[in-house]
Amino acid sequence: MKLAVLGGSFNPVHLGHLFLADTVLSVLRYDRVVLIPAYRSPFKLAAANMESGAHDRLELLAASITGDPRLTVDDCEIRREGVSYTVDTLKNIIRRYMPEGKPGLIIGDDLAVDFLRWYRSDEILDLADIIVARRLASAEINCPFPHKRITNEMMEISSALVRERIESGGAWRYLVPHAAKTIIEDRRLYGFSGEARSAADSGAGSARKTIVRVEETVRENLSLERFLHSRNTALLAWDLCSRFGLDPALGYLAGIAHDFGKTLDEETLLDLAKSDGRAISKLEKKKPSLLHGRAAAILLRERFGIHNRDVLEAVALHTEGGADMGPLAKVVYIADKVEVSREKVDPALRKMCYTNEALDRILFAVLDQTVSWLRSKKLELSGETFRLLEKMKEPVPKS
Ligand SMILES: [Fe+2]
Ligand SMILES: [Fe+2]
Repeated sequence: MKLAVLGGSFNPVHLGHLFLADTVLSVLRYDRVVLIPAYRSPFKLAAANMESGAHDRLELLAASITGDPRLTVDDCEIRREGVSYTVDTLKNIIRRYMPEGKPGLIIGDDLAVDFLRWYRSDEILDLADIIVARRLASAEINCPFPHKRITNEMMEISSALVRERIESGGAWRYLVPHAAKTIIEDRRLYGFSGEARSAADSGAGSARKTIVRVEETVRENLSLERFLHSRNTALLAWDLCSRFGLDPALGYLAGIAHDFGKTLDEETLLDLAKSDGRAISKLEKKKPSLLHGRAAAILLRERFGIHNRDVLEAVALHTEGGADMGPLAKVVYIADKVEVSREKVDPALRKMCYTNEALDRILFAVLDQTVSWLRSKKLELSGETFRLLEKMKEPVPKS
């Protein structure tokens, strides 16, 4: 196997590192690039917190290459501790990995200028093929030693820039791999002190993972159009939850999942709905597609281990509503009917979602229009929807 080595501080890893590794793999036809975070880089002896952050730097890297068999991370420099000299690392890598031919050693042209002054540079030249990558804008760098040059495009990203942006609250999230972003936020690394910016960023780690897993599954299983509707439902549910003092992450989760049952056949819908302990109405028997919310709630519990009652109720009741539905279920019911990808929604309803209207007043308005539409199409009204409508007709206090 043809191996190339890319060392560095990776403090933190950013897309420029991975892009460079990918370029070496694609252009120079190496089979694998070994990413090696330094314990203490000989080029950055004055840098603070390198050793104490070694574990985090390693984990950020490990998380960033998930699923890419062309990349691997090796912790030999961190295990060795002390100053991370390249010559020691190369000997160690060659002994364990037994690469075909000499491994490539990727270095930036900024460091290549002084390569002959590196610790035991003559030995390094014996052990590895030096690959000089562009890091400096200036065109020609003199490298008086055997090397291959790679004309990679330069990305205007550096770890120092990422650290500075995190610390100052600037834009940094899409300069690093998604998994690294998540870990940095979770552990509040590099002085991160920002607010949660998305459903997936809010809540504890496991809740976030659940949301990501559900969203990915929904995207893979539904048509793109249906997925975008689900995501817009999730976003409006998030906004409404924020307004009404509910947990926005739960609104997002229920919103993204509410139509998960849409692709199931009638037999499966009836089978799944049987297990939620509620009766199946005459209308549902006649039109099992009405059960897609109830079926989705069962799937969320069984496949994703989601037991939050409010979320399950919101998903189960989004189609027909329910006289006793709780606030989260009301939010998701509204969001499903009013979200922005629906072309024919009365703008007044959308406006209500972002003004001072009470939740029940918005629900009543949405329900009223939904029922009018069903009646205009001569569609049968479900008993649940009818009971909810009757209940909502009772006087509602203004907010
Ligand atoms: Fe639905
Ligand atoms: Fe929907």
